[in-house]
Amino acid sequence: MSATAKKKAPMPADILARKGGEPLVCLTAYSTPIARLTDPHCDLVLVGDSVGMVLHGLESTLGVTMDMMIMHGRAVRRGLEHALMVMDMPFGSYEESPEQAFRNAAELMRETGAGAVKLEGGVEMEETIRFLTSRSIPVMAHIGLTPQAINTLGGYKVQGRGDDRARVMADAEAVTRAGAFSVVLEKVPASLSDEITAAIPIPTIGIGASAGCDGQILVVDDMLGLFTAFKPKFAKRYGELGQAADEAIAAYAAEVRARSFPAPEHVFGDAAPEAKT
Ligand code: KIV
Repeated sequence: MSATAKKKAPMPADILARKGGEPLVCLTAYSTPIARLTDPHCDLVLVGDSVGMVLHGLESTLGVTMDMMIMHGRAVRRGLEHALMVMDMPFGSYEESPEQAFRNAAELMRETGAGAVKLEGGVEMEETIRFLTSRSIPVMAHIGLTPQAINTLGGYKVQGRGDDRARVMADAEAVTRAGAFSVVLEKVPASLSDEITAAIPIPTIGIGASAGCDGQILVVDDMLGLFTAFKPKFAKRYGELGQAADEAIAAYAAEVRARSFPAPEHVFGDAAPEAKT
């Protein structure tokens, strides 16, 4: 079916049923206009906590709050018709206890109309994910590089190389057991990503993982060339919108300084235009 012919947004169970099928197309969005652009092409749109770095200029995702997520979530909701909307749980909103996670996940879904939440962590989050999924909160898990843990991981490093392989596989198995409907694999070596994809019955969504994953996700501002503070290896540029914007703003500035903007067609005369017959 073509992207534009799709009728109804998928539910988490529909995403789960896509395991091993046509790859799932996922992107982030943080605003209504970008959500509208992603919607006809995507199965799933994530309101990622990457919003903190991409739109708010934060150095990491650690400063993102529930209020920020809810504000961006509401904006994205207004731009989606065809894609499943997933809300990221911000740092500090779920780690304390399953009850805290439930309260905040329910608030994110209630306030934004999202169909699911995403949270970071594997074995250590198994109990929390089970608590949520058994209480009507669909959960997308996120393992491998978990950016909210950069201070304990020691930076944005590849996860699961050498002796660390078994740990990441154990995380994948734990979130599967707990009932997650899909799992993001971030910065996991391709061979391990393929092994996890073959081993677990839920879709794996890769970002810096492998083309063999059940789907892919990118930060939309990365792939459009709008976020240029740094460029991760996995963030393929499909457009250079930042450069196009720079050229447009430079042209505007030059025309304002030269008094060539506004031109006659952009200003108003004294007389009202004649009524159209
Ligand atoms: O916050 C985010 O954008 C994410 C994706 C990169 C998976 O978690």
